[in-house]
Amino acid sequence: MSGPGPYRHLFSPLRVGPLTLRNRVVFAAHLTNYAEHGLPSAQHAAYYAARAAGGAGMIITEEHSTHRTDWPYEKLIHGFRPGVIPGYRRITAAVHAHGAAILAQLNHNGGQSSGMYSRLPAWAPSPVPDPLFREVPKAVEGHEIAEIVAGYALVAGHCAAGGFDGVELQCSQSSIVRAFLSPATNTRTDAYGGSLPNRARLLLEIIGTVRAAIGPGRALGVRICGDELTEGGITLDEAVAVARLADATGQVDYISTTIGMATATMYLIAASMQAPPGYAMHIPAAIRPAVSVPVVGVGRISDPRQAERALADGQCDLVGVVRGQIADPDFAAKARAGQPAAIRTCLACNQECAGRVGRNRWLGCLENPRSGRESVPLPAPRRAGRRVYVVGGGPGGLQAAVTAARRGHRITLFEQAPRTGGQVTLAASVPGREGFGDLARSLAREAARLGVDIRTGHRVDAEFLLRAAPDAVILATGSRPARPPWSRGHPRVIDVREVADGTHAPAGTVVVIDELGFHQATSTAELLADRGCEVEMITSAMVIGQDLNLTLDFETWNIRAGAKGIRQRTDLVVQDAREDGAAAADGGGRRLVLELLHHPTGTAQQVTCDWVACAVPARPADELWHALHGAPFELHRVGDCRAPRRAHAAVIEGERAGAAL
Ligand SMILES: Cc1cc2nc3c(=O)[nH]c(=O)nc-3n(C[C@H](O)[C@H](O)[C@H](O)COP(=O)(O)O)c2cc1C
Ligand code: SF4
Repeated sequence: MSGPGPYRHLFSPLRVGPLTLRNRVVFAAHLTNYAEHGLPSAQHAAYYAARAAGGAGMIITEEHSTHRTDWPYEKLIHGFRPGVIPGYRRITAAVHAHGAAILAQLNHNGGQSSGMYSRLPAWAPSPVPDPLFREVPKAVEGHEIAEIVAGYALVAGHCAAGGFDGVELQCSQSSIVRAFLSPATNTRTDAYGGSLPNRARLLLEIIGTVRAAIGPGRALGVRICGDELTEGGITLDEAVAVARLADATGQVDYISTTIGMATATMYLIAASMQAPPGYAMHIPAAIRPAVSVPVVGVGRISDPRQAERALADGQCDLVGVVRGQIADPDFAAKARAGQPAAIRTCLACNQECAGRVGRNRWLGCLENPRSGRESVPLPAPRRAGRRVYVVGGGPGGLQAAVTAARRGHRITLFEQAPRTGGQVTLAASVPGREGFGDLARSLAREAARLGVDIRTGHRVDAEFLLRAAPDAVILATGSRPARPPWSRGHPRVIDVREVADGTHAPAGTVVVIDELGFHQATSTAELLADRGCEVEMITSAMVIGQDLNLTLDFETWNIRAGAKGIRQRTDLVVQDAREDGAAAADGGGRRLVLELLHHPTGTAQQVTCDWVACAVPARPADELWHALHGAPFELHRVGDCRAPRRAHAAVIEGERAGAAL
């Protein structure tokens, strides 16, 4: 192996079947929701081209459906329609212009689907319903198996005509091939069920027919699930055996890997920040010695040093960097240039990638507002070199400063706290969420690199700004905790922010109210439980931390909550808080009684505690905005001071304001 500097392995070329890749960085397959009416879009081409321009060695597109019975989500590419070919050509030409190889992922999701879009029964090896879709699929008969195999060949032919360098068979987390391979979902008694060779028969038939369709000049990859981690599902030993069978055909050029299955163990596939980098590398490490072809490993590799380490240690031959390249398309180029610190590191927050895709929207990125908007360029600056003041150094203000500085303006950023970061710093201070701090750190680093004059510990008022008279002011002054009306100003009813920033240190029994449905309440509950408090969570919703589901944090949160003894009560609206006669555990006052309404039944309940920590809607810190009404300069406001929301809103609006100057 030979490559430059510290990334000797990462930047060494590799032969993958008929292809020679320029390096080992793979942009592995992932849903984007960019398809329009089943066809690839201009956004697809721009999105993949950006990663090719940023130095990726091999790009695998999202899945292309191989059959009309497979339509689990609206914006799926219908690879079985010949109309896809022009869109394929647009993607492959855009990527090839930057020297990367591009393969298309082929898939039939089988029973991990429903008839909602197709109005057809889902097809599967056996009538075993998927735990997410909960629809009993139709067990395919012999002629339907032949139809499935033919579907793969048809789409492989479309891909060849569309200029792809090869195709990858998704047999991993959501696939009819995985369902045939897995004893948990294949209960057949014919030649396609029972023994492993029987369960692998469909895979081997597809490999044969797809190879015939693409010929020897294109690469064929197989992506397998290394461990389903479900009762009776595929284990690592079986995955190794499957890889051997695929390799033994002599028609496969590489094996790619994943862990977990959509939908039963989805949280493992693109694990959130609680999982360590390289959490799934034991899978390629087990498969690699068993096969003759290169093996791809993935899983929270978002730092080139980790990628290099995985290769140097022989865990894999190629490294899938998916979210790492969603967050920074130039991941490979920056590493190659010896600038790993310049990479906008993926936070593994899943907020804008998995989180948005799960809501049927275009894939985006919290860390990088340009990601997922590649085909929608920013407008040209109206005038260059403007003097711009940004007030507030949270993610919205920092992003505004970065975007404006990149466009040639002269920026001064004022932050009243001793350091930038705003609420991100608080959010990152609770257990398991340290990684979130990268959002502010990388923005602050980029702002400094661009020459933004950052003045921390500097509070500005309207008079100061009017006197300074810059060309434009961007307000990113954030929000303040708001006490719920029922608290009636009681000093033991506090905001979760005041726990994180140390203003209060609740002890004894603490009730955490969750009216935001996200990490604010659950993280605080964990922090308090870790400090020895007895924690009870209450929400008016049907579940605590409802939106953690979108970011794949829900299962792991519940596992930790159970282990930490955190109790969860739902469907309860707090009506009133009053003092109990008893002294609080920490001796500084009286205990509290919360009067609760169980809204589905209309019944009253009570809970007694020492403290109440509230995760409830905040109020905008918008005094400066109102004070500057009619000011003689251009005025913008972004993020929470406009309306308190999650970090993505601040980042996106920061970018928009920075680009509007
Ligand atoms: C939003 C999203 C969608 C994904 N969709 C697919 C898919 O369609 N096919 C697939 O094989 N893997 C899919 N994956 C899994 C990724 O290829 C990859 O294995 C996973 O993200 C872990 O790698 P990372 O930590 O580098 O992101 C998806 C991942 C994400 C984040
Ligand atoms: S949204 Fe979060 S997890 Fe997804 S790519 Fe961006 S930073 Fe990474």
